[in-house]
Amino acid sequence: MTKLSVNINKFATIRNSRGGDNPNVLKAALDAERFGADGVTVHPRPDERHIRYNDVREIKHAIKTEFNIEGNCTEQKFIDLVLEVKPHQVTLVPDALGQLTSDHGWDTIKNKNYLIEIISVFKNAGIRTSIFVDPVIEMVEGAKATGTDRIELYTEGYAKHFNDNKDAAIEPYIAAAKKANELGLGINAGHDLDLYNLKYFAQNVPGLLEVSIGHALVCDAIYLGYENAVQMYKRQLAPNP
Ligand code: PXP
Repeated sequence: MTKLSVNINKFATIRNSRGGDNPNVLKAALDAERFGADGVTVHPRPDERHIRYNDVREIKHAIKTEFNIEGNCTEQKFIDLVLEVKPHQVTLVPDALGQLTSDHGWDTIKNKNYLIEIISVFKNAGIRTSIFVDPVIEMVEGAKATGTDRIELYTEGYAKHFNDNKDAAIEPYIAAAKKANELGLGINAGHDLDLYNLKYFAQNVPGLLEVSIGHALVCDAIYLGYENAVQMYKRQLAPNP
């Protein structure tokens, strides 16, 4: 079965919007596990506007499932953190500084030499590597040449076109996954996966090992818990019996 890694960055975004420690990010990681997630993902950015580097250190010591740190490996700060924390997996993402969210995969051909070098740094430290790629055959073949253990397929394109034509939307992902399987690369996926498009993706992409999901899952957690929260607040205001 495909594993679910919950990306808890959004909890940190809400916490940081008010200072203080509500919601508690470590609790969000531990609760994800308690509720059945197979792992926890964090995406520390150099400006620490979501997850802070100290959150990452704390979470690693506390969780029992798989820990995945994703981020921009051209930042030395990110490399040092990953080597210090030693998660089960590092996912390399070609983010620009200050980027709102990841919006493209690696050009594994242009960046081949750089990727070979950085991947060997992490693999020598005993950390499984995954690189974020678009569902393009040449990029998957290029990924193989870097020595990475896995690829993470960037699923925004799939999610965007799912409602218009899900067969067409998933086609490049199936082709990319078949190529990855043929080359012996593990397959992860993520970005904009949600309750509506996830099942079809997981059922049709062969060899899908793991999905990491943040935004939609946290939005659903808010909506699904909204009624409960309003009623609990009303109860606090009710006259004593
Ligand atoms: N994978 C990568 C590389 C990402 O950057 C993100 C977003 O931080 C995700 C997966 C999760 O995407 P979403 O928040 O849309 O579920």
